[in-house]
Amino acid sequence: MDVQSLRDNFEILSQTIYNKPLIYFDNAATSQKPNLVLDTIREFETKWNANVHRGVHFLSNYCTDAVEKSRKTIAHFIGANSEREVVFTSGTTDSVNIIADTFGRSFLKPGDEILVSQMEHHSNFVPWQQIAHRHGAKFVVFDILDNGEVDLDDYKRKLNSKTRMVAFAHVSNALGTVNPIEQMIALARKFDTAIFVDGAQAIQHIKVNVQELDVDFYAFSGHKMYGPTGVGILYGKEAWLEKLPPYRFGGEMIEKVANDITTFNELPFKFEAGTPNYTAQIGLGKAVEYIETVGISNMCSHETELLEYATRRLKEMDGITIYGTSSHKTSVLSFLVDGIHPYDIGIMLDKMGIAVRTGNHCAQPLFTRLGIDGTVRASFAFYNTTEEIDFFIESLQKIISMFR
Ligand code: ALA
Repeated sequence: MDVQSLRDNFEILSQTIYNKPLIYFDNAATSQKPNLVLDTIREFETKWNANVHRGVHFLSNYCTDAVEKSRKTIAHFIGANSEREVVFTSGTTDSVNIIADTFGRSFLKPGDEILVSQMEHHSNFVPWQQIAHRHGAKFVVFDILDNGEVDLDDYKRKLNSKTRMVAFAHVSNALGTVNPIEQMIALARKFDTAIFVDGAQAIQHIKVNVQELDVDFYAFSGHKMYGPTGVGILYGKEAWLEKLPPYRFGGEMIEKVANDITTFNELPFKFEAGTPNYTAQIGLGKAVEYIETVGISNMCSHETELLEYATRRLKEMDGITIYGTSSHKTSVLSFLVDGIHPYDIGIMLDKMGIAVRTGNHCAQPLFTRLGIDGTVRASFAFYNTTEEIDFFIESLQKIISMFR
């Protein structure tokens, strides 16, 4: 993989911030978009814009065909059985809320249990907690180990005949841990429970096949996989999506409407009320095409090299604690420097042109468990380089010597 020439696909990477070359290490928050995605969105907005699934005219049909082609591309990318199982949403958070709400209304009874992990992002934690409370179900959290892996013993202990839903991340956004989801799904299959996997931090790093995983629901966002913001995917097994009621009501999700009754559209449109962000949906299909052209395994092996290199360089420094030390990780490096607040490090790195995220990374229960308030998080993408890591380490050394 020729990283330097791939970087040319991303205009934003060649700019300067405070007169310093931009080093973008905040890819777990949002990734950058290649020209292919940006050009496609611009082309559709300037030449082909019309509302989808509604018109008889050329532009509307053109956009509709592009959206459905994108859905097909995505269905193929994740190994879905059909496009009926691929619902466009506004992102992972929306996907979780759709299932938490509709599943809760249809299946949760007092005494039932929902089981989630201690490492979840708030978006795969709060919806389940709130839905459990609403329906009188018990919200159960299984623990993690100190190295940031899930505690499989605790998971096994807490799975039981009352468990109706288990929800966990494929990859931790805050620590980068890749969870053994094949094993976790197989363990859950011994019980009468549905399984929801948050794939927001996995889909851009790991080849996912939802049928091989035998997962009931899998969610991810466009903007973390080189695609547009405001669009994401809810994959659901057709049998599950058929059983669940609509989440939002409005145009496009109906079959027939009368004064006294409404019947609903077939899948996946039953879950797609209202005018969608169709240019973003088309852009997401292009992002998937881009990933397939570069090759997810090429991306992943470069990212692993970056992670290993950065981890080694960071470990050579005094007073650094790395959080998330599993041997199965994506390219996320979460750390603290003794005596310096993560926010101060983030602010000073920024002045050197380096973008990282600091804080609790929307995972407060995880950091409560780890006994800290948050970390500095550097998250790498395939377009990052070891030279950027060298500059990051030098900058960090400067910051530390200034503070000490
Ligand atoms: N979920 C995003 C992150 O981890 C915003 O930064």
